[in-house]
Amino acid sequence: MKTSRLGLLLIVTLVLWSSSALASVSGSCANCHTMHATDGAGNTLAGGAKGSLTIGGCVGCHTGNNEDADGASAGAGGVPYVMDTAEPTYGPEYSGGTLVANVQTLAGGSFWWVGKSAGNDATTGHNVTTDGLCDFDMDAPGRRDGDQTAFSSGAPLTCAGTMGCHGDRSVAGDYASISGAHHGSSSTTVDDSFRFLDGIAGTEAPDWEYAAAIDNHNSYKAQARSEASTMSDGGDTISSLCGQCHGDFHSGTDTVSDGSAWLRHPTDIVLPAGEYASYASIPDESGIYNIIAPVGVATPIASTADVTLANSVVTCISCHRAHGSPYADLLRWDYANISAGSPIGGVDNNGCFACHTSKDG
Ligand code: HEC
Ligand code: HEC
Ligand code: HEC
Ligand code: HEC
Ligand code: HEC
Repeated sequence: MKTSRLGLLLIVTLVLWSSSALASVSGSCANCHTMHATDGAGNTLAGGAKGSLTIGGCVGCHTGNNEDADGASAGAGGVPYVMDTAEPTYGPEYSGGTLVANVQTLAGGSFWWVGKSAGNDATTGHNVTTDGLCDFDMDAPGRRDGDQTAFSSGAPLTCAGTMGCHGDRSVAGDYASISGAHHGSSSTTVDDSFRFLDGIAGTEAPDWEYAAAIDNHNSYKAQARSEASTMSDGGDTISSLCGQCHGDFHSGTDTVSDGSAWLRHPTDIVLPAGEYASYASIPDESGIYNIIAPVGVATPIASTADVTLANSVVTCISCHRAHGSPYADLLRWDYANISAGSPIGGVDNNGCFACHTSKDG
């Protein structure tokens, strides 16, 4: 990983100037591709040959620190880094009563804590095995054989491909399943989907939430269903993506709800009245969208727009980060520190309390 950094710095410097066009790379081919897996001077490329003749591959190219200071900004036109070379500052979250400043992680968090050459804690992220990022960990909890045919039992996770989250899961291989997406020219729906998650809808923050704020966030597609027994959402919500491998946690009669009571924490339902009516932005922002425990909406809106309480929907990523976090179960905040009557981080609407506003005493 370290070895591909030199090439990456070059790529980053050269792609930074590009326009704000989303999910469509620009710049010289040689910034990102190598025709013979060499460094241009005849030496074998550090890290070896990668798919689609790319320099660095998925993991190498997406490894770096998201910050303006070193020119490797995750601003529009840059590379969104989801793995780091040193422990990144995680957030947004509250710690010791104050909002963590200079956050380096993006909307999906980071693989740093789970990465075997980094934090090496298998519980803190998805154990993605592409390019040796992690070793195989375990099967997906809540996986149903019936409707997760492509993602099979005991199979290691990859970035994309049949065992991955990005790309077309009916196509094997990281590069083949995402082919052309970076150029906005895939022959399937992958490049038009939210973050190359095939078929998933949403509005993308141009900087991948590098500077998450109420006026700068992704808008996730969610379903405003009244009970959780059916998966009638067309498969385009962010929670249905998670449900593709963790089906029992998302839908099903007598698995998520028995029609009267919740049997698992609900997702894809609108925040009802009661304590949820006090769901709001973090204290130093105004509006209704909490960047620490975000909600989805039935109709994704411009990322700069606000959401209303009436259409706020719980999603899997209201509580989890898709890639990883410093915390067990890739949670957005430290669950171990959430206790009734004592708000974590010294702030009333942090973590679970963002929605369960009457449970913090
Ligand atoms: C040569 C470097 C490079 C390689 C290799 C690479 N990426 Fe990317 N990736 C980028 C850049 C640059 C962007 C930002 C594109 C943009 O939105 O301007 C990006 C964006 C993305 C995004 C976000 C798309 C969006 O909608 O914002 C995803 C997801 C992604 N890459 C996944 C992958 C996967 C999976 C692989 C391996 C199959 C991969 N990348 C390989 C450079 C790379
Ligand atoms: C900023 C990085 C970047 C630049 C610049 C870039 N590419 Fe790519 N390209 C990628 C990545 C990453 C992939 C692999 C993932 C994918 O297909 O989305 C890719 C895939 C491809 C593919 C295979 C997928 C397909 O559509 O068949 C071709 C061909 C390709 N690039 C050609 C080019 C050419 C020609 C240029 C110069 C005009 C170029 N690329 C410039 C990043 C880049
Ligand atoms: C392509 C299949 C797939 C998809 C899609 C998927 N997961 Fe997973 N998930 C897995 C597998 C396999 C594991 C077990 C291995 C591991 O921990 O990495 C897992 C583990 C987890 C864990 C437990 C981590 C641990 O180590 O205890 C959580 C939490 C989780 N996933 C949440 C999510 C969320 C939230 C989403 C949607 C953003 C999602 N998953 C989407 C396959 C998937
Ligand atoms: C309200 C917050 C919340 C929501 C929403 C949520 N989770 Fe979780 N999830 C947690 C917490 C907290 C844990 C760890 C403690 C526990 O299991 O009680 C967890 C654990 C998990 C695990 C690991 C289970 C295990 O026993 O190892 C997986 C997998 C998972 N969640 C997936 C999902 C998926 C998929 C969704 C959406 C369908 C989802 N979660 C929605 C809070 C949530
Ligand atoms: C994004 C908002 C949101 C977050 C964050 C959230 N919840 Fe929930 N939770 C809900 C909603 C909405 C319900 C369902 C309420 C209903 O149907 O009346 C619910 C239901 C529950 C229930 C079952 C209550 C019942 O009505 O049967 C428990 C227990 C619970 N949540 C615990 C947690 C814990 C623990 C956390 C933190 C890990 C958490 N929740 C985070 C929105 C949230």
